[in-house]
Amino acid sequence: MSRSAHPAGPRHADVLPEGHYSAPPADLNALDPKVWAETVDRAADGVVTVGGIPVTRLAEEFGTPAYVLDEADFRARARAWRTAFGADADVFYAGKAFLSRAVVRWLHEEGLNLDVCSGVELATALSAGMPADRIAFHGNNKSAEEITKAVESGVGRIVLDSFQEIARVAHIASSLGKRQRVQIRITVGVEAHTHEFIATAHEDQKFGIPLAGGQAAEAVRRALQLDGLELIGIHSHIGSQIFDMSGFEVAAHRVVGLLRDVRDEHGVELPEIDLGGGLGIAYTSDDDPREPHEIAKALTEIVTRECEAAKLRTPRISVEPGRAIVGPTAFTLYEVGTIKPLDGLRTYVSVDGGMSDNIRTALYDAEYSVALVSRVSDAEPMLVRVVGKHCESGDIVVKDAFLPADLAPGDLIAVPATGAYCRSMASNYNHVLRPPVVAVKDGEARVIVRRETEEDLLRLDVG
Ligand code: LLP
Repeated sequence: MSRSAHPAGPRHADVLPEGHYSAPPADLNALDPKVWAETVDRAADGVVTVGGIPVTRLAEEFGTPAYVLDEADFRARARAWRTAFGADADVFYAGKAFLSRAVVRWLHEEGLNLDVCSGVELATALSAGMPADRIAFHGNNKSAEEITKAVESGVGRIVLDSFQEIARVAHIASSLGKRQRVQIRITVGVEAHTHEFIATAHEDQKFGIPLAGGQAAEAVRRALQLDGLELIGIHSHIGSQIFDMSGFEVAAHRVVGLLRDVRDEHGVELPEIDLGGGLGIAYTSDDDPREPHEIAKALTEIVTRECEAAKLRTPRISVEPGRAIVGPTAFTLYEVGTIKPLDGLRTYVSVDGGMSDNIRTALYDAEYSVALVSRVSDAEPMLVRVVGKHCESGDIVVKDAFLPADLAPGDLIAVPATGAYCRSMASNYNHVLRPPVVAVKDGEARVIVRRETEEDLLRLDVG
């Protein structure tokens, strides 16, 4: 690995500029288990390993950048959610966080269900053998073709998002001679404490039917009248990267209030409620996520209490965690390219990927951490901004972090907690090719989504 000398950037806490960072960590070589996948470790020679494999070997074999996914950790987290909710509830993994055939098989084997939100996500799930009745189909603008495919394949539920969709799904199901199980997604008017773009339960946004003004009650009225629909419950998803359970508490209270009104008006007790996903994970050492068993206990208690108060039978609960299962299980492995110290500011470290493999920093101001993983270093901490190779100054992967001051081109660095919404939101900006997803387990590594090639991109260009 080449090491080129470069002038040092700012290093000491007393000369640091404004930023989102806290003080440099006591030991830059330490890997906080909160943000790294379960089997990540640093071997005696200083190289970080995952599933028993050194990252240097992964980089040689699969190239960089690469998403490296710890399969044992994924399975363990999926199982923890499944076990925490038990037999009286269902866990639907939200495929939008990251979906591939291997992931579908792991979920199937671990007893989870799957939430999809496009025709191709549905096709991916079915092609990997997920039974259709364990699939929920979401989306605020499903096409007639997607709905037809979902109904024909026998999906377990379609989550209805608008009045037009209630009519459309009923019509398509009837014309196929079927009665489709559906839930109605409502907005309960909760302001989740998260970024505006990922908050979804306030009323002024595109998802769901507002509870306010009796609209959700009207949606139930219509759905109950239509032969093509079997209304099984109400759905609420309040947002993403949430740590505070109080939003779920208010949501459950309002959803149960609707179930009570439905019982009073129609004499029908809807048997299910879905409280969505959105549980936060640790992106940096400052984040303190809850364990699945704590979340399950809290949600079950809230729903049970609300139903007792409303004199309703407790409905079957389902949840849809995406990020909380896959997010912590992967890191992105990059090779360091150019290093540019800016006096009195920070050192810009460029990597061989960027906003095309992780748009979350640019889009949500997301915070990530980073570590030197191909060796250890005793050098003092240097304040860095990890940036990509794209033609855009907002192409930032990690806004502010510390890396050793002897960092050099050719070193490998890794950004943890990139399992969710990184590969699934990746782009080809600047015709940069999307990285592979490499799954590791018990000393073996295999590609589960291959790296894009120049031919892949050129094949689309038929002009
Ligand atoms: N259920 C529904 C209906 C959803 O809309 C979502 C996420 C989930 C479940 C899963 O949420 P999770 O547990 O993964 O937070 N791209 C953004 C997140 C958008 C989430 C969209 N819906 C991000 O990178 O933070």
